[in-house]
Amino acid sequence: MAVFHELITGSAKRYISGFGYVPCMNVFDFAHKHASEIVWMSQNTNHIPVSDEIDKAIRKAVDEKEYNLYPRASGIFGLCETVKAHLGLPDDYEVLITNGGIEGLYILTRALLKKGDEVICSDPSFLPIHHQINISGATPVEIPIYQEPWKITPDMIRKAITEKTSMILLIDPINPLGTAYTRPEVKEISEIAEEHDLLVIDDITYRDFSDPVATYEYVPERTLVGYTFSKQCGLAGMRIGALAAPKSLMDQMMPYNTNVLSVNILAQRAALAAMKDIDNWLPRLRKQLMENQRIIKEAVDKVEGCYLPVYPSHTNMFVIDIHETGVDPDKLQDKLLYDHKVFVRSGNYVSKAFGGRFIRVSFSVTQEGAEKFAEAFPKVMAELRCKWSVF
Ligand SMILES: Cc1ncc(COP(=O)(O)O)c(C=O)c1O
Repeated sequence: MAVFHELITGSAKRYISGFGYVPCMNVFDFAHKHASEIVWMSQNTNHIPVSDEIDKAIRKAVDEKEYNLYPRASGIFGLCETVKAHLGLPDDYEVLITNGGIEGLYILTRALLKKGDEVICSDPSFLPIHHQINISGATPVEIPIYQEPWKITPDMIRKAITEKTSMILLIDPINPLGTAYTRPEVKEISEIAEEHDLLVIDDITYRDFSDPVATYEYVPERTLVGYTFSKQCGLAGMRIGALAAPKSLMDQMMPYNTNVLSVNILAQRAALAAMKDIDNWLPRLRKQLMENQRIIKEAVDKVEGCYLPVYPSHTNMFVIDIHETGVDPDKLQDKLLYDHKVFVRSGNYVSKAFGGRFIRVSFSVTQEGAEKFAEAFPKVMAELRCKWSVF
């Protein structure tokens, strides 16, 4: 009881090397409090410098006090057009700029799902979308994909379809596994959608890290695109993303637009500057990601009982399976953070069924950050394995 009281009042303390005894707090409170010292590998954010044009655009908008005005309702001039061209969207597609991709997905699920509908999803997945499906009254039908080929196959979709199925959620590349779908797979999934009259959410949040195939190449009339500037452009804190769809579907979603006054002007300026300069910085970013994942793999390979289900990853994250070691991913997450200032995410955040088997690690950090992880991971695993073997 006393411990519980201490925990909820914040008077409980724990020893953290370099900090001494500090009050217990959740990992995010701790990480944000010490953000400048943390290697942030927990949210697939990008910490590798992208383009100087971003800061220049933000500064210019501040100097001109653009923030005095509500931004243009349909986005600053050029932003939607640039997104459309970058993604190669069909001519009749419309783009809505949103507060992060997550707001677009909320609008979409609210507008196009009804009570009793089923949406084919995966486990692991980015679970906040499943929550949105739930609050719209529909049910996410979670296909287990924590096994070869580490993604949803067209056959799995066929088996999961019922008369209530109304949508497929395709996250490509997949958060958290890093798997991507091949052209034949995307084509077949699109054909299934056509055959069964389903809509497809093509969540291409991570598409710029590789070259995935989009379902709008095959079934543009039934695709809803979730896109964001958070990850590749390093703009997660700006909260800006986009929802794209053919005009007919966009018209159905507009009554549920939660944001008729547009999106933060500085975020829009930053996103436009990043997109205009993308050909200059994206190749460099991708190269560093390959190097970082190689560094991490080398460290993981040294630890008995650990492996990377998907390597190389097609995006800026993958999972490290630690199941055989008996180490608890929550404890590994905490120890890496509190003892080494390396912040990764326990699998429980992205998987109900398999979260106890792995951690998710984002490697869009500086090379020094990846090296810090590579040094800390074997040490912490050895310490935790020792602790567990006592019991
Ligand atoms: C698959 C997927 N979709 C959407 C989002 C939402 O990102 P944001 O709201 O930052 O654009 C995330 C964030 O992690 C994600 O992983």
